Amino acid sequence: MAYKVAIVGAGGIAVSHLEALRRMERLTAVALADISRERADSVAAEYGISAYTDYKEMIEREKPDIAVVTLPHFLHKEASLFAAARGCHVMLEKPMALNAAECDEIIEAVRIAGVRLMVGHTQHYIAHNRAAKAIIEAGTLGTLVMINDVRHVPYYRDTRPAWFFEKAKAGGGIFMNLGSHSVDKIQWLTGSRIAQVKASVSHYGTKGDIEGSGIAWLRTESGIPATISQSGYTVVPRNETELIFTGGMLKLATSQGLWISEDGKYVEVPVSKEAPPFVLQYRDLIRYIEDGVEPSSSMEYSRSVVAVVESMYRSSETGAEQRV
Ligand SMILES: NC(=O)c1ccc[n+]([C@@H]2O[C@H](COP(=O)([O-])OP(=O)(O)OC[C@H]3O[C@@H](n4cnc5c(N)ncnc54)[C@H](O)[C@@H]3O)[C@@H](O)[C@H]2O)c1
Repeated sequence: MAYKVAIVGAGGIAVSHLEALRRMERLTAVALADISRERADSVAAEYGISAYTDYKEMIEREKPDIAVVTLPHFLHKEASLFAAARGCHVMLEKPMALNAAECDEIIEAVRIAGVRLMVGHTQHYIAHNRAAKAIIEAGTLGTLVMINDVRHVPYYRDTRPAWFFEKAKAGGGIFMNLGSHSVDKIQWLTGSRIAQVKASVSHYGTKGDIEGSGIAWLRTESGIPATISQSGYTVVPRNETELIFTGGMLKLATSQGLWISEDGKYVEVPVSKEAPPFVLQYRDLIRYIEDGVEPSSSMEYSRSVVAVVESMYRSSETGAEQRV
């Protein structure tokens, strides 16, 4: 079966979706919507599809089989509910919504509508991450003891859209946006959900009311402790996940490289290129729609990521460890 796809929100990440859709034989992008007329027209012209400024009108008129929701976080729930109620399957960008309560509303609405929704947790589809997961699962390094995840980025760059700096629209700052990738990575790599959280976030940013840095200690249900350390000020950029085992170590720099310890040094692991991550993601969506095979970024799983980030904020506010 062939599927008509419409894009809701034509910002930065929408282009990655459109590029992947170009490569998918059975998925055809037909239209996109963006409140910015200029942005809608320019991206639509690039991909030879129809442009709308009102996504509701687009869904009513085009009747797509799949809606790809690439909107700011505060609109994820509204757009997912609208698309599901019109019978569209949904590819929803991460994080699933602003908080766990909103995720619950999405889950309920999708079930009632009888459609499929998956969240774009791209970490699951990046070749280096998949190679790291395969090494963990093969057990050749022994027992996984702990994980340290570090990410520093110039978060307050001028090109970042303004809504990312407003807590009401983004749900939070660096932890909600990039921390959700780290939480996802830790849960997915270990195959276990995070159950305990202690965190401290700080607000030294030059814009908005979001946190620009934070540090968190977490523990998975399976008992593996992990730390996440992130900052977004005047940084030396870094994106590294170090995994410590009883019989060695792994260093994962997502999309850049994977290294394994050998005689007290790191040696790069050759990682073979698969299809692009967004293509693999769409393949999982098709499998979910056609065969009911739930993707690793199922609705419940994606809700758990948001719940962990919420617990980090609660822990920072109260000073107390949180059970997720
Ligand atoms: N998977 C990843 O690695 C990854 C990477 C980047 C962003 N994201 C996620 O993708 C989503 C979008 O992020 P982005 O960086 O593309 O943001 P963006 O601001 O570049 O894009 C959002 C677009 O939505 C449009 N918009 C806002 N309100 C609208 C409305 N009511 N109707 C129609 N259009 C509207 C904006 O004009 C903008 O063009 C976020 O959830 C973000 O966290 C994921």
